Amino acid sequence: MPPVQLAPSILSADFGRLAQQIQAAVAGGAQRIHIDVMDGHFVPNLTFGPLVVEAARAATDLPLDVHLMIEAPERWLEAFAQAGADVLIPHVEATPHIHRALQRIRALGLQAGVALNPGTPALMLAPVLHMVDQVVVMTVNPGFGGQAFLPEALEQVRAVREMAARRGLEVTIAVDGGINAQTAPQARAAGADIFVAGSAVFRHPQGIAAGLAALRRAVGS
Ligand code: DX5
Ligand code: ZN
Repeated sequence: MPPVQLAPSILSADFGRLAQQIQAAVAGGAQRIHIDVMDGHFVPNLTFGPLVVEAARAATDLPLDVHLMIEAPERWLEAFAQAGADVLIPHVEATPHIHRALQRIRALGLQAGVALNPGTPALMLAPVLHMVDQVVVMTVNPGFGGQAFLPEALEQVRAVREMAARRGLEVTIAVDGGINAQTAPQARAAGADIFVAGSAVFRHPQGIAAGLAALRRAVGS
């Protein structure tokens, strides 16, 4: 399995000090930064667009994983690429043309990811698994930070890991939602290698570095 990577989600950061918070996450040992884009349609919440990706790009050289919780994501791929994203991650449920969206992301010179809701069978990814660098398995119903981890999503992680292994594909699997020092080890055992965490990093009572250290200890890296 590839080494563990921690990807703090800025959804739980203090937006008045976004650049400093990102830099604190970098100093604390984050490997990537996760940016949650929501449109108020695909999920019942509204967050931000390419301008915030641009601000994050100015704050760090770490890979920016842009998680697109938006309908018809193909309309926005170019704007997020221009804003400085490294990986664009549409949801398999968000477009009838996921194959086309992933082709477009690669044509823009970016890495492609695909995200899976807890209620969607992992088999939905089979036709496109060879086209992605990262699968984001949602371990909550997407829309909000701070929700409780859904243990049944571990089955999705195992299913994606098995599918990739059977086909000899090198796919990284991210888990996203309710990830903390208690849940991360279960996700690691199921086959996850990227750990997305919002509250456990940016709302840790001892600060961002302590939140990252606790996660690292929990997954033994
Ligand atoms: C959920 C988002 C997550 C979220 C995770 O809709 O995709 O990335 O920020 O937040 P926590 O870690 O607080 O569950
Ligand atoms: Zn996310």
